[in-house]
Amino acid sequence: MKAKPKVISIVGARPQFIKLAPLVKELSHRFRHRIIHTGQHFDNNMSSIFFRQLRLPKPYINLGISGGTHGAMTGRMLARVEKVLLYESPDLVLVYGDTNSTLAGALAAAKLAIPVVHIEAGMRSFVSGMPEEINRKLTDHVSEILFCPTPVSVKNLKAEGIKKKIVYSGDVMYELLKASRPAITANQKALKKLGVREESEYLLLTVHRAATVDSETNLRVLVDIISELPLPTLFPVHPRARKRLKQFKLWRELDQIDRLFLVEPLSYLDALTAARYAYAVLTDSGGLQKEALFLGTPVLTLREETEWIETLKLGNNLVGLDKAKVLKLLQVKPSVKSMVYRVKNKKPSHIIAEEIARFLQRRLPRGD
Ligand code: UD1
Repeated sequence: MKAKPKVISIVGARPQFIKLAPLVKELSHRFRHRIIHTGQHFDNNMSSIFFRQLRLPKPYINLGISGGTHGAMTGRMLARVEKVLLYESPDLVLVYGDTNSTLAGALAAAKLAIPVVHIEAGMRSFVSGMPEEINRKLTDHVSEILFCPTPVSVKNLKAEGIKKKIVYSGDVMYELLKASRPAITANQKALKKLGVREESEYLLLTVHRAATVDSETNLRVLVDIISELPLPTLFPVHPRARKRLKQFKLWRELDQIDRLFLVEPLSYLDALTAARYAYAVLTDSGGLQKEALFLGTPVLTLREETEWIETLKLGNNLVGLDKAKVLKLLQVKPSVKSMVYRVKNKKPSHIIAEEIARFLQRRLPRGD
């Protein structure tokens, strides 16, 4: 009997572990599935905790590449991933989202003529210099199958003239969140551990994007906003944000703000639990802004634009780093329409695995 096709998932950063999780079962069932971890995120609470909590198989290899400039990081990943792919010779490679690990994985595979599958394709912020926008555009343009989470992402790809296989799969992050709902409800006790107690009596804040945290001016504005927030605020600090806050000598000022709970980055379950029971979520994260809406929690997005255009009709408030807007919106609880992204009753993971299987069947020589 012929061996199952070999497919490799390349991941490296926190949001990719989340996007991979709902796919693991389907992929392992149909293919010989291996995980390459680039090492982009390496702290326990940025990486290992997600593997444990989301029951991801141990990576086949961790390349240990992180930090440095975008070019240096991506370049080192490209060279090392290429080596592994040459050795492993997979039938197909999956990449996820829009990080430097995504781009390095996609480029390494495409240049070896290994078909690339992009999970969460077609997302666009239309901000040209943004690192994630560069990564996702280039990745889309070298991919063979593009799985889109939303109807708008399908349109974006068509508008760019992409002729490869574009599939509206629905959102794998929604799939995981839906499956995690009972665990989120059962995890309410985690709020106490995090320092916030009462449902709806606190805010959840996260920031990590270069545009927010790499600019001293923007970080100062953020600290000023935080100092006037009307409710106790839980702030899990991303390593990039922590580094910049210290570098710009803003950490002490932040630490002295009353009713601000500075904590380490949260596990998937604790983050969603904190989002579910918050009065509102303030974030510059692409993932968390829609996860909050999935959970029915109001969102103030600390950016001027969003890739998740559909969320704007459902209560996503693009407030940028505008203190007056933030404070005004928090006076009365903003309304929110809970949202879902899915294709009828089909699971995105199932649609994705089936389509990949069909693609490989057409492409690979038949076994006896
Ligand atoms: C990356 C992605 C972004 C994604 C985000 C989620 C790119 C361009 N950006 O940004 O799309 O939304 O991850 O978190 O790929 N660090 C640690 N410990 C860690 C990880 C990072 O200390 O576990 C440090 C790094 O050394 C670096 C900084 O934090 O100095 C930023 O990490 P980096 O991997 O450059 O990207 P993120 O800002 O996390």
